[in-house]
Amino acid sequence: MTKKDSDSVPSPSGGRGARFSTAMDDAASALNASVSFDRRLLWDDVRGSQAHARMLAAVGLIAADDADKIVSGLDQVAGEFDRGERALDPALEDIHMNVESRLTALIGDAGRRLHTARSRNDQVATDLRLHALRAATAIIAGIDGARVALCRRARQHAGDLLPGYTHLQRAQAVTLGHHLLAYAEMLGRDRGRFVDAARRAAECPLGSGALAATGLPIDRQRTSDALGFRGPTRNSLDAVSDRDFAAELAFAAALMGVHLSRFGEELVLWSTTEFGFARLGEGHCSGSSLMPQKRNPDIAELLRAKPGRLIGDVVALLTISKGLTLAYNKDLQETQEPFYDAIETAQVSLAVLPRLIAGLEFKVERMKAAADDPALGATDLAEHLVSRGMPFRRAHEIVGQLVKHAEGKGVSVRDVPVADLPAIAPELSSEALGALDAVRAVNARTLVGGPAPAQVIKEVERLEAELSTLGFEI
Ligand code: ARG
Repeated sequence: MTKKDSDSVPSPSGGRGARFSTAMDDAASALNASVSFDRRLLWDDVRGSQAHARMLAAVGLIAADDADKIVSGLDQVAGEFDRGERALDPALEDIHMNVESRLTALIGDAGRRLHTARSRNDQVATDLRLHALRAATAIIAGIDGARVALCRRARQHAGDLLPGYTHLQRAQAVTLGHHLLAYAEMLGRDRGRFVDAARRAAECPLGSGALAATGLPIDRQRTSDALGFRGPTRNSLDAVSDRDFAAELAFAAALMGVHLSRFGEELVLWSTTEFGFARLGEGHCSGSSLMPQKRNPDIAELLRAKPGRLIGDVVALLTISKGLTLAYNKDLQETQEPFYDAIETAQVSLAVLPRLIAGLEFKVERMKAAADDPALGATDLAEHLVSRGMPFRRAHEIVGQLVKHAEGKGVSVRDVPVADLPAIAPELSSEALGALDAVRAVNARTLVGGPAPAQVIKEVERLEAELSTLGFEI
């Protein structure tokens, strides 16, 4: 190694090397640079490079001693940037060139050997997949945290009644536990989508080169194993040019956001004076700068709003990716920001849930009073008549007449005078009207998927068993 070699650093601006005699135009460089956002890939980049260097040494493309210098040099570089001891330089375009440039400044020629059999194209694809896998793991843990919280509250409120709604009109009584477990189900499917997307993301692009792989005798399996991937990607053109894994995660995040927005909206609604079904804990409410009495559900409103941007992220990712020729195109850099936004928005929303859910104050008496509306038992009364042999359509008609009759008299269905019943239908009796009782009605719906307290407890136990195999204590 000559003195000159070890002192010089790679030329800036994305490895323009000796090909150019001038630097990139300032405005062009500002458009081109990605380091302001791809700095998030710092540790993924370093891990990927360390695995690549060790592999290069293992197959004899670089000396073991150089690999050691690279590995420890990269730790130092990442530490410096991470701790803010050294600023990232936008003139070096991206995180990859920043890391490599600093590494070479530190260790000289060994640093210049790192990029052997590698391009920034397979490098960034690898970094993004590593990043995606870490994000998916964190999101899955976040989802489980929310499911634990929902499960606890569902057990606590397995037997508390509230009206269930269709069209936001009171429909039939259900239990609060059942209502909460609906969200646990949604989140369970969201979890599955992240697991599934992560499985497909877990292939290692390293070795794909710029687009056409490499003629050098590298060991792709070794790098893949070292980084914890399932195996190397199978097509170099595809591996450097697809960001479907990012789009899939963003979609999973958007759909989860949509689910959480429904929860947010219900909390907003439930915490109105008009509904009065719930109150958010103080730690999850905001005050008003003007109106001293206000207790605003900002956090629930933000849960409701976040999918707006998550959906935007998915649309951005897909739109940027569409129509791109094989293989790498710089357009792909533009997928990074929506991808980060999606996974970070998902995490920030999930982080709030366990304590928000634990701190919810449910007004169970008010819910119960609302569920006690006898009109909510109309379907149960019809089912009671069916259980006595009546065809359902006839039962539906009779109960409809009963409701109309009650309305005409200005009384509740339960208070229609017994003497009036035979004229509506001979099958109606005061005993039959007992089916209008909300507790009795809900208790009867013990089937799988039903809201009866006993069934809620069964579902809570099923969920608890699943969560405890994942290491949670409920
Ligand atoms: N910042 C770039 C990106 O995100 C890295 C790859 C650059 N490759 C290139 N051929 N210019 O896509």
